[in-house]
Amino acid sequence: VGPKLPIYLDHHATTPLDPRVFDAMRPYFERDYGNAASTTHVFGWRAEAAVENARESLAAGIGARDPREICFTSGSTESDNLALKGAAFGLAAEGDHIVTTRIEHPAVLDACTALERQGRRVTRLAVDAVGRVDPADVARAIDERTVLVSVMAANSEIGVIQPLAEIARVCRERSVLLHSDAAQAVGRIPFDVEELGLDLASFSAHKMYGPKGVGALYVRRRRPRIRLEPLLHGGGHERGLRSGTLPVPLIVGFARALEIALEDRDVEAARLASLRDRLLARLEEGLEGVRLTGPRGPRLPGNLHVCLEGVQADQVLVEMKDVALSSGSACSSARPEPSHVLQALGLPDRLLRSGLRIGIGRPNTTEEIDWVGERLVQVVRELRAAQAVRSPGRSL
Ligand SMILES: Cc1ncc(COP(=O)(O)O)c(C=O)c1O
Repeated sequence: VGPKLPIYLDHHATTPLDPRVFDAMRPYFERDYGNAASTTHVFGWRAEAAVENARESLAAGIGARDPREICFTSGSTESDNLALKGAAFGLAAEGDHIVTTRIEHPAVLDACTALERQGRRVTRLAVDAVGRVDPADVARAIDERTVLVSVMAANSEIGVIQPLAEIARVCRERSVLLHSDAAQAVGRIPFDVEELGLDLASFSAHKMYGPKGVGALYVRRRRPRIRLEPLLHGGGHERGLRSGTLPVPLIVGFARALEIALEDRDVEAARLASLRDRLLARLEEGLEGVRLTGPRGPRLPGNLHVCLEGVQADQVLVEMKDVALSSGSACSSARPEPSHVLQALGLPDRLLRSGLRIGIGRPNTTEEIDWVGERLVQVVRELRAAQAVRSPGRSL
């Protein structure tokens, strides 16, 4: 019989909504639909109370000391833009330089490019062969006009986890703010803004079995207090930092999603890592020319990324119709170029289009992983055989 198809293995792109999250959100669609900024009636008060409860819960969930440090946004894309542009404009008197890495999400990299067009300087640090940033490189890149360093917590393609605590120490010594895009980290691996020493952090609900279209930016209020320039002007919501009517049901779902994720985060992480290792072992045993991308050691538990010698990832995806996989990151899949992350690792050209990202998540079972392992081995063998017929003499 086998598992039910199709199988979803793209949990870095997004995750399904947890039914418990849906239940928590429902009353705020159907009954308590007030505007959280309406102060003259009970509908507004209930909505506001729900938002403030969610804010407290989310703050506690990421180790923030004060719920007011949570600013709701539409997601990590907006949070990243608010952090980078907000700091660049807000701290214009103090400097004009930003340090980031070559493997950030486009929400960070393209915001940096936009800032460069407005006269800011940006340093994009190289990473090592598994994608890690060296804190010493961060230290060297900082100059007296640097206002912000932005380094993602965990990479959405290759799962590498950055040494944020060490980078934070470097930034503290030099009085430079540190932002982290934590979209892939929050709810999946230990993440505590105080322990890590972060000043700004972006995260999204839909990466943790919550709803799409809501996220937050953590903005430190003490030691130091950070003043960002808002991107959106309007009714003055979120203490003036992000105007716009709050999506109360989404915010309630966001908080519930993080609570659920944190209940069994470490147990679930161990389960996902063991499924991931099982799948890699099957591929390595069944095929030659499987190259693990990113670190073998600590990485996002549900993340597997491999380059398959001699095949194009897109061909594999066509053959694997019953499985949702990715050849890059959904965030940049509108672009035809090979992944900027794989390029930054210094992979040879022939491998740049052979990268396959497998994102294992909460609903996946051992049966599914075993089925996908078998199918992948079979598909890659067939593609290589067909290739060998077309161009004999080329091995693999
Ligand atoms: C690391 C990272 N940053 C930012 C984003 C953008 O998040 P959103 O689409 O919720 O704005 C994503 C995923 O899409 C991501 O993986």
